[in-house]
Amino acid sequence: MLKQTLRPRRLRRTANIRAMVRETELSVRDFVYPIFVVPGENIKEEIPSMPGCFHLSVDRAVEQAKELAALGIPSVEVFGLPEYKDEIGSSAWDAKSPVQQAIRAIKQAEPELAVVGDVCLCQYTSHGHCGKLCGHEVDNDATLPLLAKTAVSQAEAGADIVAPSDMMDGRIAALREALDEAGFSHVSIMSYTVKYASAYYGPFRDAADSAPSFGDRRAYQMDPANAREAMKEVALDLAEGADIIMVKPALAYLDIVRRVRDAIDRPVAVYNVSGEYAMVKAAAANGWIDEKRIVLETLTGMKRAGADIIITYHAIDAAKWLQS
Ligand code: PBG
Ligand code: ZN
Repeated sequence: MLKQTLRPRRLRRTANIRAMVRETELSVRDFVYPIFVVPGENIKEEIPSMPGCFHLSVDRAVEQAKELAALGIPSVEVFGLPEYKDEIGSSAWDAKSPVQQAIRAIKQAEPELAVVGDVCLCQYTSHGHCGKLCGHEVDNDATLPLLAKTAVSQAEAGADIVAPSDMMDGRIAALREALDEAGFSHVSIMSYTVKYASAYYGPFRDAADSAPSFGDRRAYQMDPANAREAMKEVALDLAEGADIIMVKPALAYLDIVRRVRDAIDRPVAVYNVSGEYAMVKAAAANGWIDEKRIVLETLTGMKRAGADIIITYHAIDAAKWLQS
């Protein structure tokens, strides 16, 4: 019999040897934790479809931010449910809206925490679409100045990073120009560059009250079947000045993450979205899976696929698990 000189199992024998040859190391420093801010005071209500995630009033969001900082999580992304909605989503750029207030309060309480503002209109429009309508279609170019105003209002509140999730063409250039003109050339743009029209956003839309009242988002978000088109979006956002490129959702699109990572030299983020989170939580609640092992394996897979940054609702649990 042929003598086997290469035996992979030699390097799997003990925990310390495995640690020495481990290729991917998940870290608390990789995480961004999304929060949902609501009007009012002293509100912390669990979101039914996202167990362990909460609707938070500004004061309780600050408390949450302090916990993140204490755990070593470097960043929080702020989503909001506004006091009022209208046709064009004007509460998105209202300095008194929950998102702007939360950004201001969190930066005051935890100046080191990197605060990301989600820039979109769907939470703020009466029809739930991500932009201004013309008939039953979203008017791309009429939406750009509204998104730009929203980004500037978040920068004024103190956001370190703005993250447009609307999928309008040309929005990165529009945001960059508006931010620079308003004196915010130091504020970064994390672009939801490759954002698919996905069923995995279901729980988020319940949580954020942002489901479209008619139709769907397929005329602006990407077709899940397309990979070459993702690279077209990446090229445009790079040219328009995006600082961080995001792929969303994560799990069903890790091939895209790898392609993007190999093609560019800017940081790549993935969004481990609400539906991915809800599936894990539901199975864990039934005792069907080992939640800790599943979550750490999944997040490691995202990092191994090429993500530098992972936006995840599991961030707090994972941070604690990584400590122990
Ligand atoms: C809004 C937005 C969505 C998510 C983040 N920003 C949903 C959507 O496009 O309807 C999804 C996040 C998640 O599912 O966790 N444009
Ligand atoms: Zn939207």
